[in-house]
Amino acid sequence: MEQTNTFTETSSKVITCQAAIAWTANAPLSIEKIEVDPPKPGEVRIKIISSGICGTDKHILEGKDKVPLPAILGHEGAGIVESIREGVTSVKPGDKVLMFPLPECRECSSCLHPKGNFCLKQKVIPPTGLMLDGTSRFTCRGRKIYHLYGTSTFTEYTVVHEIAVGKIDDGAPMDRVCILSCEVPTGFGAVFNTAGVTPGSTCVVFGLGGIGSAVVMACKASGASRIIGVDINEEKFPWARDLGVTDCLNPQNLKKPVQEVVVEMTGNGVDFAFEAIGLIDTMVAALESCHPSYGVCVIIGVAPSNSQFIFDPLLLLSGRTLKGGAVGEYKTRDSIPKLVTDYMEKKINTDPLITHKFPFESINKAFELFQAGHCIRCVLLF
Ligand code: APR
Ligand code: ZN
Ligand code: ZN
Repeated sequence: MEQTNTFTETSSKVITCQAAIAWTANAPLSIEKIEVDPPKPGEVRIKIISSGICGTDKHILEGKDKVPLPAILGHEGAGIVESIREGVTSVKPGDKVLMFPLPECRECSSCLHPKGNFCLKQKVIPPTGLMLDGTSRFTCRGRKIYHLYGTSTFTEYTVVHEIAVGKIDDGAPMDRVCILSCEVPTGFGAVFNTAGVTPGSTCVVFGLGGIGSAVVMACKASGASRIIGVDINEEKFPWARDLGVTDCLNPQNLKKPVQEVVVEMTGNGVDFAFEAIGLIDTMVAALESCHPSYGVCVIIGVAPSNSQFIFDPLLLLSGRTLKGGAVGEYKTRDSIPKLVTDYMEKKINTDPLITHKFPFESINKAFELFQAGHCIRCVLLF
């Protein structure tokens, strides 16, 4: 069906606004005036209302995950559609939307497979920093600025492909639902979709940050009888206990490797292990924490660029399963707006996952707090 353009006052014009630019790694973000081009066919320009700061954004800023710079980071955003171009049929100006780090084109082999969610039009692996046509919509001081994962949310306006946008409930509280773009589905889906945690099972969660906390919440909701939380930052333990962790372990205070302690605590190892840190050593520890015969290990953390995951293959020969998944293996556009509806209907309560809120201008303060380990999730309000 032919779709006519829907015009707003600013549509088809360049918008000048503020954005936080990552010029290089290991330096504060710089808030600057940028120009945001109008969307091209199949694209949506969005006014950002809120954005979470995810562990991946932190890794990028610390230079551990390499992406093309200078860039506008952020991939956990909620906003309102400002304008659309031809071809866009699922959203219109004024709609409340979430934007996803993984698109859902509904045409590629991943999207057409009943279980696939890693859309082949994704921009995460490798992170090209460009839109599908190979260009950028952002300019700062005359220089083109890269996108991140086809999202870029640390800006007042962004341009996203329609395939990475989901219309959400008109009544959705925009200061809180942004974490349903990444943190919540990544953690929940690892438990519900990838692992399939069963009632009465034992679980271990490596990393009790934003993603790990969402994992804990979902393990509890699945009826796990024991949830062991592992973190080197004991500030995370009270939050973790509130969400359902039954035993907290700090590997730095143990006399033997944490995986040996987990195996001893559970008899022969846990039913389900989750790695939500992004380090090779803790990925191996998670795998070794699993029951040798039927334990399932799910890798969620994003390892540093170009690292190798080396482990004894006999760990798998005995029957352990090693799995991974991005954004909780949810088909993003089909599933995430439904999670927002679940939130609206009070079937899930994700508010405890947000511990701090900052105005967008204080983004560097939020990053400092995050890097110092004093928060679970900081949300930026625009
Ligand atoms: N052992 C145990 N815990 C650790 C270790 C370690 N060696 N190193 C870091 N941690 C803990 C941190 O103290 C923190 O609580 O891991 C947690 C990581 O959480 P966040 O920094 O909040 O990051 P989050 O957003 O949860 O993302 C976690 O998932 O999506 C990926 O890229 C993301 O790799 C990252 C991971
Ligand atoms: Zn994320
Ligand atoms: Zn696809």
